[in-house]
Amino acid sequence: MRRPVIAGNWKMFKTQAEARAFVIALKPLVANSSHCDIVIGAPFTALAAAVDAARGSAIGIAAQNMHWEKEGAFTGEISAKMIVEAGCSHVIIGHSERRQFFGETDVTVNKKVKAALDAELVPIVCVGELLAERESGRTEMVLETQFIGGMAGLTAQQFSRIIIAYEPVWAIGTGRTATPEMAAEAHRFLRQVAAAKFSPERAAALRILYGGSVKPDNIKGLMAQVEIDGALVGGASLDANSFASIVNF
Ligand code: 13P
Repeated sequence: MRRPVIAGNWKMFKTQAEARAFVIALKPLVANSSHCDIVIGAPFTALAAAVDAARGSAIGIAAQNMHWEKEGAFTGEISAKMIVEAGCSHVIIGHSERRQFFGETDVTVNKKVKAALDAELVPIVCVGELLAERESGRTEMVLETQFIGGMAGLTAQQFSRIIIAYEPVWAIGTGRTATPEMAAEAHRFLRQVAAAKFSPERAAALRILYGGSVKPDNIKGLMAQVEIDGALVGGASLDANSFASIVNF
């Protein structure tokens, strides 16, 4: 049995004070939610405040990006060690917004994944096709390329610590969710690719989250699919009540 993960991705939302207030409001709402891992991806500046507020709960805090080098002259960048020191357990890598707007490639995703694993962070690695790619029948090719590129050079042992998030770009922030069946089909394909690259056992244990307009009213249908092991939630993770009802699907 794969343990579900419900993760929020706040993107560029919430100050330190807002992050603290959110976590304080969320804690009692998920105090008995031992059925899944709960993670919140906060902006860099709010990480320590979120970690501090989450103390004594099972809520893990994630960064939304990182640099692959340990340190250096990389103005504006943040290292894995800095994220760990802030108290994070996870890091989101390769989100489509980083690929679209900030030049993230499968090569940089791969470097970041390795650096995150070295620092004992759990990488949540995002893959997903554009609308034009889906409509031209290239979804599987895109997913395979992103997966193979992102996971290049990992040992099976390293791979066992990865979480994959399937986020079709056309479903992000659009209110247009993939149907549970469409998401499950993509997850099944990714699991096949993982089985071929690593092993059927590792692939069977891999947790694959769905992301893209996940809301309190569609989470149950998504989680009813055996292939869907959880969700990466954007907009609906900004409100504690809404995020809690997704956690408590
Ligand atoms: P929305 O839930 O706002 O569509 O965002 C999904 C996402 O990008 C999570 O990483």
